[in-house]
Amino acid sequence: MKSLYVSIRNIKLKSPLMTASGTSGHGNGTAVLKNSPKIISSLGAFVTKGVTLEPREGNPEFRIVETRTGIINSIGLQNNGVKFFVKKELPEFLNINLPIIVNIAANTVEEFGKLASYLSENDLSQIIKGIEINVSCPNVQKGEMAFGVDPRQVERIVKTVKNKIDSRIIVITKLTPNVTDIALPARAAIDGGTDALSMINTLRAMAIDITTGRPYLGNKTGGLSGPAIKPVGVFMVYECFEKIPECNSRKVPIIGIGGILTWEDALEYVMAGATAVGIGTAWFVNQNIFCGIHDGIKKYVDENKKSISDLIGKAHEE
Ligand SMILES: Cc1cc2nc3c(=O)[nH]c(=O)nc-3n(C[C@H](O)[C@H](O)[C@H](O)COP(=O)(O)O)c2cc1C
Repeated sequence: MKSLYVSIRNIKLKSPLMTASGTSGHGNGTAVLKNSPKIISSLGAFVTKGVTLEPREGNPEFRIVETRTGIINSIGLQNNGVKFFVKKELPEFLNINLPIIVNIAANTVEEFGKLASYLSENDLSQIIKGIEINVSCPNVQKGEMAFGVDPRQVERIVKTVKNKIDSRIIVITKLTPNVTDIALPARAAIDGGTDALSMINTLRAMAIDITTGRPYLGNKTGGLSGPAIKPVGVFMVYECFEKIPECNSRKVPIIGIGGILTWEDALEYVMAGATAVGIGTAWFVNQNIFCGIHDGIKKYVDENKKSISDLIGKAHEE
C-alpha cells in the first residue's frame, strides 16, 4: 500500500489535502472537524481564514454570487482581529490532530510584520506550524493595488514576516493569479526567503443583475473561485515548477489551489508540480469532499504502485 505522506518543509502531512483559506472558518471551522474523524483523517493540514491585526467587518452585502462555473466572493476579510484569534479561536485547534497554518492579511508591510510577530510570540502551545501570507490584499500606501502584483513588495513582506517569527514556523506565500507572469512574484517570494508557495488565490471578477442593471456584489467586484479557475491554477503551478529551479528541485514546494472538485483535479495539480493541494469552494458544496478525494487518490496510487512523490511534476517529463 502506497502512503499519501508528503512534506512541506518541516511539516509532515499524512495526506496532500489541505483546506483553502477562508472556506472553513477560523477556530469555528473545527466544529465540522470534531464531528468527523473521517475528515480529519483525510486532511493533511488545516489552513485558517485570513486574520488581520485589527478586527474587520468585511464588505457590504451581497458578498457572494453564484455563476455557472464558480462563485464570486467579496467577503472583505471579515474577522475578529489577531488578539481575539489567539485568545479564543486558536485554542480550538489544540485537540485537532492536524498541522495548523494561519493565513494572514494586512494593509502595509509593517502591519504584516506586527501580525506575524504577535502570532509567533503568543502561540504559547505552539499550535501554529505555518503562516500563509495572503499577498492578494490591497496595499493602502500604494493606491490599493494588491501587494502580490509587485514583486518588490512581495519580497519585502516575506523578508519582514520571516524576520519576525520563530524559526520553527514555516512561511508560505500565497500568490495572486491577477498578474501577467506568475513566475515573477514567485521568484520574489523565494528571494525573500519563503519556505513554500501556494497558488492561486481568486481571479478578479464581476457579475451583473440584468433586472437592476447593477453589479450583484455590494463591493461591485470580487474574486472568482471554483471549477472555472482550475485550468489557470494548473498552468500557474506548471509555470513555476518549470521556470524556477527551487520549485523544480522541490526545495520550495508548491501548494496547488483553485477549482479542485475531484481526485482527478487534485492529481492534475500534483502532476503540474504541486506537492499538496488546497480545496475551498468545493467544500461549500460537499462537506465529504476531502474523504472522496483522499480515497480516489489512494486508490490511484495503489493501483499504479506510485507514491505521491513519484507523481509530482510528472507533466514535465520529456
Ligand atoms: C468565501 C471565500 C473566502 C476566502 N478567503 C480567503 C482568505 O481569507 N485568505 C486567502 O488567502 N484566500 C481566501 N480565499 C481564496 C481561497 O483560499 C482559494 O485560494 C480560492 O477560493 C481558490 O480555490 P477554490 O477554487 O478551491 O475555492 C477565499 C475564497 C472564498 C471562496
